[in-house]
Amino acid sequence: MTVPRIDPFHAVGLSTLAHQMAAEGRDIVHMEFGQPSTGAPKAAIAEAHRVLDSDAMGYWESAPLKARIARHYQETYGATVQPEQIWLTCGASPAFVLALNSAFRPGARVALARPGYVAYRNTLRALYMEPVEIPCGPAERFQLSASAIAALDPPPDGIILASPANPTGTILSEAEMQAIVALCRDRGIRIVSDEIYHGLSYVGPVRSVLQDEPEALVVNSFSKYFSMAGWRLGWLVAPPSLIEAVQTRVGNMFLTPPSLSQHAGLVAFDCREELEGHVRMYRHNRDLLLERLPELGIERIAPPDGAFYIYADIGHLTNDSLAFCARLLADTGVATAPGLDFDPVEGNRFMRFSFAVSTDRLEEALRRMVPWFARAGGAGR
Ligand SMILES: Cc1ncc(COP(=O)(O)O)c(C=O)c1O
Repeated sequence: MTVPRIDPFHAVGLSTLAHQMAAEGRDIVHMEFGQPSTGAPKAAIAEAHRVLDSDAMGYWESAPLKARIARHYQETYGATVQPEQIWLTCGASPAFVLALNSAFRPGARVALARPGYVAYRNTLRALYMEPVEIPCGPAERFQLSASAIAALDPPPDGIILASPANPTGTILSEAEMQAIVALCRDRGIRIVSDEIYHGLSYVGPVRSVLQDEPEALVVNSFSKYFSMAGWRLGWLVAPPSLIEAVQTRVGNMFLTPPSLSQHAGLVAFDCREELEGHVRMYRHNRDLLLERLPELGIERIAPPDGAFYIYADIGHLTNDSLAFCARLLADTGVATAPGLDFDPVEGNRFMRFSFAVSTDRLEEALRRMVPWFARAGGAGR
């Protein structure tokens, strides 16, 4: 078996370039990553300062944090999860590796929506599994559906759900989620659900797969809603039948996330007022982009129900989204992500704007982009 080839995350290359440009004195607006600019909640930072002087910071799994996460599932979704079913990780990324490696064998076929988060297909490949990408366009709101999964022959071993999704922000309806769960149960398909954008919805409550399917695995993180990406803290929920498989892998491959982050994360759970303030800002930014993107000649966009992204069709401007985003960065200092990262087939004519920046910076980006897009359209590039 040869070592699998993994595609690069192009936005990382653009971001590195953007940071080099900033070091050379250029003013850069960073809209390439879903990275909150707000920082951790104030009380979480204060807790980190407090424990730094008093805690030995050894290997540690915070039982109170696991209990708090379990309570969160009960309170938010009415789903019962025992603390023993929860593992704390360094973000959703290792939680995802843990989920896949615990639930599937090498060679397993795992279906996912295209476009989708770049790491899904690459992590599957790195673990010697086979991503089965289902093309999902505007008609499907860029989401998987029970009928698309049912059409796969042979059925996949698993699926990855992402709602709200990256790069589109679209959310699965309750009816579709339940239809998917029913189909998967019927055909013995294991569900892994990435719920990292929960809490960031502009259209009402979002359903956790655990409300409908206690056998699913769920990954989540403090990186988005909690605004703590650099603290590297997340979690995995796995069903009782997989506890031993997950536990043995955690003990060998990952151990524990930073103690400091676990202390801070527990406090962050109760900083709702501050965090909801961030969501209000994202909503404002989203509305601003929806209103102003037509000035850039961008009309065909995925409905951003949640998360902090707008995935836009720029096929009338380019056939090479990577070169287009690189030119936009070089000319204006606005960093964005090319659709190619999320969709290797059609992403050449899409780009993703992250609106996790402050409203001031978003307005600055628009000031620079409006004339640039007018020229790009006029030049037919
Ligand atoms: C959909 C999705 N899942 C997982 C991650 C990884 O997040 P982290 O490892 O910071 O928790 C990201 C990061 O942007 C993401 O967009």
